Parts: sequence; structure tokens; C-alpha cells
Amino acid sequence: MDSRPLVRVATAGSVDDGKSTFLGRLLFECGAILTDQYEAIEKASLQTGEIEVNLALLTDGLRAERSQKITIDVAYRHFATDRRRFLLADTPGHAQYTRNMFTGASTADVAMLLIDATKGPTVQTYRHAFIVSLLRVPHVVILINKMDLVDYDEAIYEKWVEEVRRYVAKLEFADLRFLPISALEGTNLVSRSERMPWYSGPAVLEYLDSVELSPRQTPVDFRFPIQLAIRPSMDFRGYAGTPVSGSIRVGDEVTALPGGRTSRVRAISTAEGSRPEATTGEPIVIELEDELDLVRGQTLVRTRNPSPVTTAFEGTVCWMSDRKLELNAPIQVLAGTQSQVGAISELVYRINPETLHREYVSTLELNEIGRLVVQTSSPICLDLYDRNRATGAFLLVDPVSNETLGAGVGTRILGEAQRENSAGLVLWFTGLSGAGKSTLAEAFASGRSGAVILDGDALRAGMNSDLGFSEADRTENIRRVAELAKVLVAQGLTVICSLISPMRHQRQLAREIIGEPFREVFVRCSIERVAARDVKGLYAKAEAGEIPNFTGISASYEPPETPDLVIDTEQGSVADGLEQLRESVSKWTQKT
Ligand code: ADX
Repeated sequence: MDSRPLVRVATAGSVDDGKSTFLGRLLFECGAILTDQYEAIEKASLQTGEIEVNLALLTDGLRAERSQKITIDVAYRHFATDRRRFLLADTPGHAQYTRNMFTGASTADVAMLLIDATKGPTVQTYRHAFIVSLLRVPHVVILINKMDLVDYDEAIYEKWVEEVRRYVAKLEFADLRFLPISALEGTNLVSRSERMPWYSGPAVLEYLDSVELSPRQTPVDFRFPIQLAIRPSMDFRGYAGTPVSGSIRVGDEVTALPGGRTSRVRAISTAEGSRPEATTGEPIVIELEDELDLVRGQTLVRTRNPSPVTTAFEGTVCWMSDRKLELNAPIQVLAGTQSQVGAISELVYRINPETLHREYVSTLELNEIGRLVVQTSSPICLDLYDRNRATGAFLLVDPVSNETLGAGVGTRILGEAQRENSAGLVLWFTGLSGAGKSTLAEAFASGRSGAVILDGDALRAGMNSDLGFSEADRTENIRRVAELAKVLVAQGLTVICSLISPMRHQRQLAREIIGEPFREVFVRCSIERVAARDVKGLYAKAEAGEIPNFTGISASYEPPETPDLVIDTEQGSVADGLEQLRESVSKWTQKT
């Protein structure tokens, strides 16, 4: 058996960044491309009149390979040096292929991202860097390629390094480095080139050969997804599979999840015979002391070190389909050998890969990344990805066409409480004009089905156009909106009322009309701040005396004494406020 360690490498970059040339060259230098193949390509290239040997032809040919029944284009390719063997997941780099990147990187030890030195980093670079960080790839190398086209200029290299560094400062990377190359000329691929005396680091292969391999994550968490229950005769029953993390010994106590039945390991066998223990990556058959009747899809864990079992979790997902994300549509949730019917019940936010800002939208499109809530009809085992890369990832698949819709990592296991949705609540937002009530309301409602907003401004344009801003008119305004909210909440909707509602007695009236579902949410921001921001330009006018009875200027606002929730938009961001709101809502919807 080959004792050289296996290193999993993922690459990403667009075709224009020269990735195919880079890979072809790397494989060729390692002898992974046979000479006759090389000559065939050389011939083909010469025939088409290309002067340089077009190694890109070779890697492009690999792309037709497909893995399993789930259609994701990742081509795996082996190559080796004297010290190590490499498994390279080549993930095509067109914009629409972020999904392939995701798949290749989830198991990688090293990720190499290419940047074209003539152009610098692109949105695509940032998207890939984000995914690589999300997937916690231990080692990341940014290859600044085509250095020959910029005269091997150090200043240009440094400029791109700076730009990328500024971006990645906001992400988490365990180990990140930069390496200038020219794939076409083979510069800095095998050994360091004289052409860039200013660069003192290793060449690509030197790097791959020497990068310190961190021991595979979480050696303690034993996870054995059952692939097959074997019963060749009445007196034998074993479970075949491969521990994806941790190790196990004969005599250890194990529990099958979901389900929770417990037994002890009676025997461990491999193709070569039985043995006292087994570890990550070794295909084995486990026999238990008791007849538990387990099935594929269950996971054996150590009884004292179980994985979470849940029907609701939050994950960060890369959307991989041309079809937009649809809330509450049936989907198949795959995690390890498990497969369960489920649905996406909430889109919490979308992440802008360039700015890393959260964006509150109602759907995700191809290649977009977002945080969402997934619910399943029966429980599944899912570790948090941060704790276990092997058992913390999942796929969302169309149950009819089998198309992969999204791939994600588990970020939060939701408790019983959070499985309920917020239907049955009226969230009454009170606060000064411009405090952020509408912004918060929209952000909260956008990713949720069954949420409606009743906004003061909007209703005053129609239903309440007969009302002004005297105290009596405001009371009537509030009464009507409360009555409407009462009707809507009775039909299972979540109602967010966004009105200044300045007086305590007015809010008390709303509480009396609505009853139990009413929750008072104080959206707080000082008058100084809202007047300074003056989004609608009304405070300036009010101060000039042009608008009478203006709340905070010429009419009073009574802050709630005991609101159910205070969201401070002066101190915190919209995202913070939203997080607070979601926490509270899940608390309020908890069944008692
Ligand atoms: S409430 O006091 O009756 O609850 P509501 O929320 O419906 O008020 O309407 C407030 C909005 O009306 C403000 O955001 C602002 O755009 C506009 N507006 C116009 N005149 C006034 C005023 N005199 N006081 C407060 N808001 C006003």
C-alpha cells in the first residue's frame, strides 16, 4: 500500500484566470499526464495553430465526469510527488459553477484560488474566498497568475495581495498565503523562479509538498453513518459503512440516531478479517451485542457523545439551481446517508459576497448565498459544521427531478420552540418617525411566508386618508389598524404593525382590541438622531414650523414603560435588531 499521505486539493478560478492551463501544467509536471497524452495534445494544439501547448484541452476533457446521481460537476484527478499523493477536485470556474466549488471544497485540505494578474480579484474571487472560509478549508493559497503578462512586476502583485487581504480580514481563515505564478510559462510551479527574485516563498509544488497537514478534525466524535444493514444468515447481522470521524473499539457503547437505541460493539470486521478497533476512513462492518434492527440512514455514535437530532436547523446555503428558492415547497434534505422530506421555512438573510453585508430578501437565486431555516418531517442527525466538517453539511434536492437545489453547512440546531413559526402574533412596532420601524418590519417579513405588514404611512395613503395627526385622529388610526390586525391574525398570519402610536393609551387600546397575540416592540432612537438623519426631510420642515403636531417636535411621544421588546436602532444595526426580534419571536411562539 502507498504510505504517502493523501492531500485533498480544491481549485477555483474562472477559465479566464487561466485555471485549466495551471492544472494541466501541474499535472504534467508531476507526471500525471502521460507523455503520449501530452504529445496528442501538443499535436492537436499545433494543428489548431496554437504555439503554446494547450494543456487546457486536457483538463477540460475531465469535466464530463459526474459524481453519483446528484449532478454536480467535480472532476477528481490524482497526482503525486515523492512525498505525497494529491486528490485534486477540479471545479469549473464559470460564474454559474459556484456550486461545484462548494462540493469540491467541503472535503479539501488545501484550496487554491486563481486570480488573473492583469485584472485582479473579481466578485467571483470573493465568492470563492467566502465559500472556502465558510467550509473551513484549513489551508488557502491565492495564486496570482499570468505574472508574465505584467512583467513579473512586484508592485502589481502587492496591489492584488493588498486588495484581497482587505477583503479577507472580515472572514475566518486558519492559514492563508499568496503565491505569484505564470502557469503558461511554468513560473513558480515546481521550483522558485529567478524571474521573481522579490518573492521568497515556496513554489506551488514545494508548498503542496510541505504544507502542514492538520490531523483530520474532531477525532473524538465517532460518527458512523450506516450504509447497509447486512444479514447473510439468521445468526449474523452487521452494519456496513465507514466512520466519517472518530474511532471505535470493540466493547464501546454506541447509540443509533435518530431512534436512540443503545448497544455495545461486539465485533469490527474489514475485508482482511476482524480487528479490535477502527478509525476514520476505514470501511468496516460493525456487529452489535443486541438486535437493534437498524437501517441505512441511521448513524452510530458513542452514547456519551451523540450528535444533535432535530427537525429544524439553520444553515448557510449556496443556492445552486436556476429555479429560485421557494419557501415551504417540498424538498429532500440529504445529510450523509440520511434523506428526509422537508422544506425551507424561512430565509433569514442573503449574504453579499463582496461586502459581506446581510441583505433581507425574499428568495435566493443561482449562486447566491444565504442563511435559512430548514425543517424536516422526521428527525435527522446533524452536527454543527464548525464542530464536524464530515457530518455538518447537507444538500437540498428537488424530490421530483433530483436536481440539487442547494448545499449548505449547519450553523444552528433549533429547539422545539423555534420549530413553530410566528403565526398568531401581532408585533406592534412603536417609535418615532424614522426610527427604523418600517425597515425592520420589511426585513423581518421578507424571508417569512405568512407575514404581513400594516404600515402607518401606507394605510394613511388609502384606508385612513380621512385622518390627520391630532391626538383623536391618531387614536382612530390606531384603532382601525388594530381591528384589521385582529382579523388577520385570526387567519393564521403574522401581523407587523408599524405605527408611531405615540401615546400609551393608544397602544393600550390596540392591546385590548387584539388581546393575547399582541406584543409591544419599542423601536428606540433618540429624537436628536432621527432628526439628524431626517430620511424623509420631515423633521426639518417640522422644526421650521411647517408641519403642526409633529411627533417629537411639536407633539409628544410617550415611550413604553414595559414593552415586550426594545430594539435600539441608535446603538445597533438592522441586523442586530432583526436577530433580537427573531429570538424574541421564537420565545413567544414557544408552546407552553
Ligand atoms: S400615528 O401617530 O398615527 O401612529 P403613523 O405611524 O400612522 O402615526 O404615521 C406617521 C407617519 O406620517 C410619519 O412617519 C410621517 O411620515 C408622517 N407624518 C406626517 N405628519 C406627521 C406628524 N404631524 N407627526 C408624525 N408623523 C407625521
